[in-house]
Amino acid sequence: MRRVFRLYESTIGKKIVMAVTGVLLVGFVVAHMAGNLKMYAGQEKMDHYGEFLREFAAPVLGHGGFLWVARAILLLAVAAHIRSAILLTRQSQAARDVGYKVTTRRESNYASLSMRWGGVFLAAFIVLHILHFTTGHIHPTFEHGAPYANVVAGFTVWWTAALYILAMIPLGLHLYHGTWSMLQTLGANHPRYNHLRRKIALAVALIVVVGNISFPVAVLTGLIK
Ligand code: HEM
Repeated sequence: MRRVFRLYESTIGKKIVMAVTGVLLVGFVVAHMAGNLKMYAGQEKMDHYGEFLREFAAPVLGHGGFLWVARAILLLAVAAHIRSAILLTRQSQAARDVGYKVTTRRESNYASLSMRWGGVFLAAFIVLHILHFTTGHIHPTFEHGAPYANVVAGFTVWWTAALYILAMIPLGLHLYHGTWSMLQTLGANHPRYNHLRRKIALAVALIVVVGNISFPVAVLTGLIK
């Protein structure tokens, strides 16, 4: 047990925590986008999908129980991801004060800056997004259990749609850099696989960003109403 704790507190341990929670969070974002594609199948299918998630494993977990288990796991993953990110940043800043590795500074600074500030922006986006589409606190005409109508009404407000579209820029960059370094931590770190790693990271980021941007665009152009 002490060994596991020591690994967890080491640099590589923190990178493993970032990578494993990253796999979970990337999985969620891809599955969430894919689930939201039900918007194109119409109101009945989309609302039925929401109902399905609420009632999944209901005999065992109770009404809405599955969603609460998933929320708890996601929240723990986000907390561990942020904690490790902060600790690793502090560690690398302390190492930089010693003043070495000048050659790679520019590229790694760009990536880590975009990860850090992109991460802060994403955390704020997720809070606003939950108040918007899950609790309805900042939604003009929120209805419980009616995700189709909520998404359509939400994106009919042009500046809300624009904000969601803009939020996909930091999400895309975070997914790209994150998937790339997650695959590296998890062992795909060989010159032969490096170009493949970049391609996989780019594909994940593009699929999620294009899919997510399509929803506000479809509402604004009247494709979904
Ligand atoms: C345009 C893109 C998106 C659309 C249309 C969308 C739509 C929705 C809807 C309708 C809900 C509420 C579901 C319900 O309560 O029935 C929801 C919840 C949620 N979304 Fe999104 N979403 C989008 C992008 C994102 C992104 C990029 C993230 C994360 C980075 C995200 C994270 C979440 C989370 C964490 C919840 C709360 C789930 C819960 O606790 O019930 N969403 N989304």
